[in-house]
Amino acid sequence: MDSDLSLEFLRVVEQAAIACAHTMGQGDGRKSDEAAVEAMRTCLDTVPIDGTIVIGEGERDEAPMLYIGEKVGLAARQKLPFGIEFPSVDIAVDPLEGTNLCAIGAPNAIAVLAASSKGGLLHAPDLYMEKLVVGPSAKHAVSLDAPVAENLRTLARCLEREVADLVVVVLDRPRHRQLIEDIRATGARIRLISDGDLSAGIAAAVVGSGVHAVMGTGGAPEGVLTAAAMRCLNGEIFARLVIGKPEDEARCRAMGAEPGRIYTSKDLASGKGIIFAATGVTDGTLMRGVRFFGDGTRTNSLVMQSDPPRVRFIDTIHVEQSRMVRVRF
Ligand code: FBP
Repeated sequence: MDSDLSLEFLRVVEQAAIACAHTMGQGDGRKSDEAAVEAMRTCLDTVPIDGTIVIGEGERDEAPMLYIGEKVGLAARQKLPFGIEFPSVDIAVDPLEGTNLCAIGAPNAIAVLAASSKGGLLHAPDLYMEKLVVGPSAKHAVSLDAPVAENLRTLARCLEREVADLVVVVLDRPRHRQLIEDIRATGARIRLISDGDLSAGIAAAVVGSGVHAVMGTGGAPEGVLTAAAMRCLNGEIFARLVIGKPEDEARCRAMGAEPGRIYTSKDLASGKGIIFAATGVTDGTLMRGVRFFGDGTRTNSLVMQSDPPRVRFIDTIHVEQSRMVRVRF
């Protein structure tokens, strides 16, 4: 896929982040989410693509915007001269990953989008997924089926440190009681998070972030977005869909997903030219949150592509045109 689109997608996540950041701390997750969704939807329609949402806000009947299958991009609005076409792009979005984090002003809420050429992102059902996310040095050594202690010993060896020096991020959920006990038994350190295993996964693949792995069960759509990020960062996610109810299996198969299979980032985000863009909504491990000041707004974003591999940390000052530009470092 044309990597020039990465800066177009940057605009999209920036606008989503700015919109929902206005609602930060107001305790109304729904309002925050709606603001992000609406801004993302509006901005996506200015991008020169023939886009289809493959991971979004839900099925058509449950989400008014950015629903699965929705056509987005300029192609849906304007016709090109005969013989010229907008590129066909599949898009996965989470306009506000960590809705509750934004609602209470807690760290690591982000606006996210991943794009690929057609067919390059798994159409994951809205189920849970078991996940293990690690950075480049351990990606060939750990396994989703290995015992927790073994994975942590392997990870420590790959990172040339003691198990006690590792930091593992886990969603703070009752379903993770045994996992947390198992990690604690090894002596590794744990960061329990209330939400946001996607931004934690990205951090696990960035050396120096202070996060060495993400373990546990979280959303499958977030898993696909994590996989897109891993394709760009050379990290890895190992993931398996969780079949909670008998009808889940049929749902998976209908969407082309295989229950029981251990997926890697290449399986979940198989596209040749993956683009991943995220903007911080609240301050986080890798990006600062949106800051509003008299003359404008400042955003921190991460924009990456897999082919050729590029990782850009982008600090943007958005100045209102009618006002005087006064840029501060
Ligand atoms: P939202 O983007 O809907 O706010 O999801 C946040 C999140 O914490 C994800 O990061 C995670 O994968 C999922 O929810 C976990 O789901 P649950 O809250 O049901 O355990």
